Amino acid sequence: MAKCYTNVLPKAFFVIVFSLFTSSFLVTLSEAQMVPAIYVFGDSLVDVGNNDYLKISVFKADFPHNGVDYPGKVATGRWGNGKNSADFLAEKVGLPTSPPYLSLVSKSNKRKASFVNGVSFASGGAGIFNGSDEQYNSFVRRFMSDLYCSLLSQRQAIPLSYQVNYYSEVHQNIGLQLGSKGAKDHLSKSLFLIVIGSNDIFGYFRNSQLQNEYTLQQYADLMVSNLKKQLQRMHALGAQKFVVIGTGPVGCCPAQRNSSTGECNHVENSMSVMYNEALKSMLQQLKPALGIGYTLFDTYTVLTNIVQNGASYGFTEVRAACCGMGKLNAEFPCTPVSSLCSNRRNHVFWDFYHPTQATHGIITDKLFDGPSKYSSPMTVKELIAQ
Ligand SMILES: *[C@@H]1O[C@H](CO)[C@@H](O)[C@H](O)[C@H]1NC(C)=O
Ligand SMILES: *[C@@H]1O[C@H](CO)[C@@H](O)[C@H](O)[C@H]1NC(C)=O
Repeated sequence: MAKCYTNVLPKAFFVIVFSLFTSSFLVTLSEAQMVPAIYVFGDSLVDVGNNDYLKISVFKADFPHNGVDYPGKVATGRWGNGKNSADFLAEKVGLPTSPPYLSLVSKSNKRKASFVNGVSFASGGAGIFNGSDEQYNSFVRRFMSDLYCSLLSQRQAIPLSYQVNYYSEVHQNIGLQLGSKGAKDHLSKSLFLIVIGSNDIFGYFRNSQLQNEYTLQQYADLMVSNLKKQLQRMHALGAQKFVVIGTGPVGCCPAQRNSSTGECNHVENSMSVMYNEALKSMLQQLKPALGIGYTLFDTYTVLTNIVQNGASYGFTEVRAACCGMGKLNAEFPCTPVSSLCSNRRNHVFWDFYHPTQATHGIITDKLFDGPSKYSSPMTVKELIAQ
């Protein structure tokens, strides 16, 4: 299978090497800054524009009404009306949002590529498994022309293992820039944010072959063992402080609710619970084995609370999407011709799969500073202080 985005690497390497010989880098920690950098891995929940740089992808959000509440009202490739959790976490620690890796290494980037202030590898549609982005092709085939479909043999997203491949390039670059001791110190204090898993769960329920091959529990365990391998690779490349975000109640996304009753899809939710449990025990074992620190955030409980008690968080619409079409505004993605709700602040969900900026903000507040019952074994603020 052709993988269009792997073509970026040689160019990237050239830019990196070139910039090393033409500049000196200033790496200082300002007063307000709590960590040197955040390195972001994940899916559309934290994508800040990597997919804009994929030549051929159906997973793009770089058009309205996306971005309607973003500064300047621009569609940046973020899957939402405004900022997402990666933006808000960066603000909390006093850093600019970690820019998309593919923007830093793209040919049109006139600035010198430097990764010491953080990078994001997150990509809409990405999963823990290499194949989890492919499930969306059939959805697209229903609506797009044959010509467009012939392009779908290309990869649509950057799966996690490829994101870690990119990080290994970044690791090498930082080593050249800061020296091996400097790089080790820098990375050991930096946060490694990981927001992944939802697309793998959706992939299971869209693929009868997977359902025949694995039980829900087996598949959830397989997700965790594959994620563990990627965490080990990151650790071997200097990562020490992991911020791991559990999957939410994925069956309560507008697109997954029962179209006649409006109920959450309880089977999908049960796999999310299994995955989160397995993730928790994997991390408990990995911590002493590798000597790492981590936060595991219970998105499932937090988002379920928000959906069940919307009013106490300022939401009046907890089921339907703000931007979309059809039942629950969730039968089609958010596009320029979709219907757009007038008040985004009172919607939990922006489109058929993604939360609004308001929801991202509430989640990130709790991720950063508690209540501590949502973070095990500690909040991000405590992880930073460690
Ligand atoms: C996923 O792709 C990567 C290429 O980066 C490869 O090394 C890995 O073995 C693949 N994983 C699986 C489970 O096929
Ligand atoms: C939706 O709910 C109805 C009534 O409980 C049920 O008969 C139907 O199978 C559900 N549809 C799906 C797709 O789960």
